[in-house]
Amino acid sequence: MAKQSLRIFILLLAAVTVLAVGCSQQQAQGGDLVQVGTDAAYPPFEKQEGSGKITGFDIEVMQAIAKAEGFKVNVQHTGWDPLFEGIDRGKIDAGISAVTITDARKKKYDFSDPYFEAKQLILVPANSKAKSLKDLKGKRIGVQSATTGEVVVQEAFGKTYHGLKGYDDTPAAIDDLSNGRVDAVVADNGVVLEYMKKLPKGKFKTIEDPSFKPEYYGIFVKKGNKEVLDKINSGLKKIKKDGTYDKIYKKYFGTKK
Ligand code: ARG
Repeated sequence: MAKQSLRIFILLLAAVTVLAVGCSQQQAQGGDLVQVGTDAAYPPFEKQEGSGKITGFDIEVMQAIAKAEGFKVNVQHTGWDPLFEGIDRGKIDAGISAVTITDARKKKYDFSDPYFEAKQLILVPANSKAKSLKDLKGKRIGVQSATTGEVVVQEAFGKTYHGLKGYDDTPAAIDDLSNGRVDAVVADNGVVLEYMKKLPKGKFKTIEDPSFKPEYYGIFVKKGNKEVLDKINSGLKKIKKDGTYDKIYKKYFGTKK
């Protein structure tokens, strides 16, 4: 080989090496960062502070899982419907948002092991005569669209029940209850109880309905994303075993799980 072409060859080899090393490093970094989406308007599970910071029970659980497994998370407020779309499009790797594991959702997504038990709860003005969901027939009921709260109302009164008012987020439904634009709101018990603390004292009350079944929250990923799901399940096991989960639970719900 002539001196000149040898020099070019070495230069090229060096360039290719630098490129290859750079790429693999980037991949390693990308692989360690899990993009997490949430609808940060569901306290105490997730909410956005004035500073923009996203906090809550779910967020701490997710962060603890990541710490236990040695990966990083970037938690973003996506909203509810966009969270599912974000997972579909691969923009979000994992969703944690008080999401109930349902058969319908399991067709499209893979869920982690359950990490929290919940139930629907009805929020009404204190002077309401209703004792159960069926007593609210004919009344306007606010729910967050595409949630299990919406499902229980549709199961009771039909899919196209005229009194059903769907909102993009739960705080908007509660606002309308405060303003008298709806007669009741159906949402997860933890969230309804949280709002009971914030709403004017004595103005509202909650109603349990015997027909409401226990629900279980799971963290979800795109169907087949075993890599991320395995890490999540493994981390969840670790934080349940070492007491971290109980500590977070106690911080938010006052009792030990
Ligand atoms: N658990 C209910 C469901 O899965 C409501 C969840 C709503 N979560 C939220 N962050 N807005 O349908």
